[in-house]
Amino acid sequence: MPAFVTFDYTNLFDATGDLGARELEELRPRLEEVARDLLENPPGFMRLPKTSEFLDSSKALAEDVRTSGATDFVHVGIGGSALGPIALYRALVHPYYNLLPERPGPRLHFAENTDPTSLSAVLDVIDPSSTWVNVVTKSGSTAETMANFLIVRSILMEALGESDYRERVVFTTDPEKGYLRQIADREGIKTLSIPPDVGGRFSVFTPVGLFPVAVAGLDTDALMKGATQCVDEVTQKGADHYAIQGAAYHYLLDLAKGRNVRVMMPYADSLDRFAAWFVQLWAESLGKEGKGSTPHAAVGTTDQHSQLQLYMEGPQDKVVEIIEVENHPWDLRIPKAYEDLEGVGYLGGHTMAELLNVECDATRKALTEAGRPNCTIKLGAIDEEHLGYLMQALEVQTAAAGSLYRVNPFDQPGVEAGKRITYSRMGRPGY
Ligand code: PA5
Repeated sequence: MPAFVTFDYTNLFDATGDLGARELEELRPRLEEVARDLLENPPGFMRLPKTSEFLDSSKALAEDVRTSGATDFVHVGIGGSALGPIALYRALVHPYYNLLPERPGPRLHFAENTDPTSLSAVLDVIDPSSTWVNVVTKSGSTAETMANFLIVRSILMEALGESDYRERVVFTTDPEKGYLRQIADREGIKTLSIPPDVGGRFSVFTPVGLFPVAVAGLDTDALMKGATQCVDEVTQKGADHYAIQGAAYHYLLDLAKGRNVRVMMPYADSLDRFAAWFVQLWAESLGKEGKGSTPHAAVGTTDQHSQLQLYMEGPQDKVVEIIEVENHPWDLRIPKAYEDLEGVGYLGGHTMAELLNVECDATRKALTEAGRPNCTIKLGAIDEEHLGYLMQALEVQTAAAGSLYRVNPFDQPGVEAGKRITYSRMGRPGY
């Protein structure tokens, strides 16, 4: 039977001699306390999978978009207001969807950065007369998001006129506060709410993630089903759930063993942005008060030919977390050819997925034999349900790690200083 989602931590232990039973035993009472606290005083993100309100509103509005004859949908947002839906879109939608001649729904575009080249490229391909824009900012005033929005707004207004333009805009923001909410109230713009007690990087199961994912035609029910299963299992197992155990392992590897780099290496191109989503989750949640380990994203097999040398023989400061996919959504058989040439002919008859997974296993074995701690997340398949489970599990793990480090995983005071300087240089009143 294929694995659903499992975490295998075996190679953090004996093979490398890195994590010992003693440290874990000593940490155990604290881990139990952390798990108990997470369940007794659940942070906002823990209740999302069992809340239908956000799923219903996101699905209903997505249906309006999909049946409106929209050709394009521009999601404007940055950081936690973009990385979750981007990860899901990249994982689950055909990589060249926007170029396919037949499409069941609009083309999706993500405007994250304030790089004018990226936004100009989006503007070059959209049809403004049939484009929707979804502006996502919890605070309601993030400079990057507002700048992108103001540009897209002017293009849409020019094409549609002021009143029709308003029909094509959605604001995903705080239910009460912020400038975006003020504009929505003033101009009668459709809105979706981000619950106040859920921070950006934990918000993928709010309209931040659910609405664009539903517009893309993905199965949001299955996504939430996976996330719900994770919450149920965590509730049942507490400190014995492998997501929470993982928090303890990564915490100990950092603090007790000096392994302060956590590499996430999925063996699937379509999970590259998933790793980017996790990097933000771990970095922005834990990197404070001089604490936290550094997350890094890599992709197998590509980065075997780029970074693996460092992981194998560089400083002993890393733990590599492989994501292994049991059933890839597509496969291709390698044709038999050049059978007289032993360095080529052996490939014929195997499949690409087989080669990918054999290389994944080979890397794991090589790392272990070289005394390099590694662990594996086994993903039965790349689909909504599996990814819903895994995202929830990694959020749980990050929140638990925050408690172990004794930092607040839900704030990000370190990014404020740069924002203040930007506001002042760009002439925002009061800065
Ligand atoms: O995780 C977070 O809280 C941040 O990454 C925010 O999502 C990011 O700064 C964007 O903020 P906002 O949604 O307020 O525009």
